[in-house]
Amino acid sequence: MTIAITGATGQLGRLVVESLKTRVPAGEILALVRDPAKAADMGVAARAADYTQAETLGPALEGVDTLLLISGNEVGQRLPQHRAVIEAAQAAGVKRIAYTSILRADASPLVLADEHKATEALLKASGLAYTLLRNSWYAENYAGSIHGAVASGALIGSAGQGKISAAARADYAQAAAVVLATDGHENKTYELAGDTAFTLAELAAEISAKAGKTIPYNDLPEAEYAKVLESLGLPAAFAAILAQSDVGASQGGLFDDGHQLSALIGRPTTPISALVASLLP
Ligand SMILES: NC(=O)c1ccc[n+]([C@@H]2O[C@H](COP(=O)([O-])OP(=O)(O)OC[C@H]3O[C@@H](n4cnc5c(N)ncnc54)[C@H](OP(=O)(O)O)[C@@H]3O)[C@@H](O)[C@H]2O)c1
Repeated sequence: MTIAITGATGQLGRLVVESLKTRVPAGEILALVRDPAKAADMGVAARAADYTQAETLGPALEGVDTLLLISGNEVGQRLPQHRAVIEAAQAAGVKRIAYTSILRADASPLVLADEHKATEALLKASGLAYTLLRNSWYAENYAGSIHGAVASGALIGSAGQGKISAAARADYAQAAAVVLATDGHENKTYELAGDTAFTLAELAAEISAKAGKTIPYNDLPEAEYAKVLESLGLPAAFAAILAQSDVGASQGGLFDDGHQLSALIGRPTTPISALVASLLP
């Protein structure tokens, strides 16, 4: 039994490998990475695999039974990248692919969901068994805004009153490890989200309590928020995507109260207060 993880040297991938090592022998785990040298400290075998270099994917997937395809981070380029991995997996005889998608990918108001929805369709059409891990927001996405809020005196965003069911990256990673290491997840779709949801005003209140001063939440129009993010150094296209994601959150796109994540990992998810406390001790 060989379980392979793409993007294994990324932030989520490293946590998946760590969690998987507590569930299956390290010899059954294979890190598929752009640069095997970066995986030297991981304690599992590593093979070179680049989504944009199809010739690397066949050899990388040889002998793999179960694959975790961690979605790429080049927004706009991901569909052909994911297609190349899925096609190589079919050719290599991979039995099941788990894929890190986005919450309710098929109905999400977030533009970010488009590539995930299309990848899910490819997976379903591939004939391989699949498991869709539809992840809500990582709590860690707010690390920069929390520091920025303390420095500038206000938390900003465009999420209005939208409730956000974020969870820690480690929670999503553990869920991925569970579906890779155990049976019964074939052709299943999981909507994975934190047990507790918060509005950005509630996050601002949490930051205020830890910072010892009042930090309000200022809700901005989408274009204005995108401009602020750009002025902070984010590329314009990415700033626009983040601002649009906030608008999607205002429409409920990142809220879920199904508790499927805590059910999979067998413990409550990590609340946003844990991130705030770790950043503002
Ligand atoms: N739910 C959320 O809130 C949220 C937030 C951000 C991102 N995401 C999605 O979740 C994924 C994992 O998150 P993360 O925090 O682990 O992101 P990350 O730290 O940026 O990791 C992305 C991983 O993808 C790998 N990768 C990128 N392009 C590749 C290519 N052409 N071929 C092979 N591997 C490639 C990177 O390889 P290297 O190690 O070589 O760089 C890295 O390991 C992201 O890529 C993105 O799709 C979700």
